[in-house]
Amino acid sequence: MAEDLNIIQGSKEEQYQALIPQIQGLLTGENNLIANLANMAAALKEQFGWFWVGFYLVDQNELVLGPFQGPVACTRIQKNRGVCGTSWAQAKTLIVPDVEKFPGHIACSSLSKSEIVVPLLKDGIVWGVLDVDSSDYNQFDDTDQLYLEQIVALLKIV
Ligand code: SME
Repeated sequence: MAEDLNIIQGSKEEQYQALIPQIQGLLTGENNLIANLANMAAALKEQFGWFWVGFYLVDQNELVLGPFQGPVACTRIQKNRGVCGTSWAQAKTLIVPDVEKFPGHIACSSLSKSEIVVPLLKDGIVWGVLDVDSSDYNQFDDTDQLYLEQIVALLKIV
């Protein structure tokens, strides 16, 4: 496994395309879910420099904070609450260009301005979400959805 991430400049597509094989390399041979979530969050944060990147994991009827990179965050989110709880309930990726315009958005930090939340699915069931926050508006689009969905698909839960 490479010890250092190779950070590249370029378009968003180029950055994702360079990052995905490196994340794959980090995950290869490691079955521990927490270790893999932690490295995935770190790799995304290192490449893109987003404000907050991390995971919330389903625990019975709520989401509980998992491995992340960024400022301290809310620990528990109810189903259907905020962007994360809505992504969980709908089992789909949500792109929020302006968090203040998302009804029920949970502001862990007032510095967060836009957000994308990608559900983690196994056999069609959501077992967690990847949450990415930017301190700028309009930072996420279909390209992020495409590649972030590919990246979380690399996670295997046993
Ligand atoms: N904003 C999220 C809560 C999690 S924090 O952004 C880290 C939401 O509305 O679900």
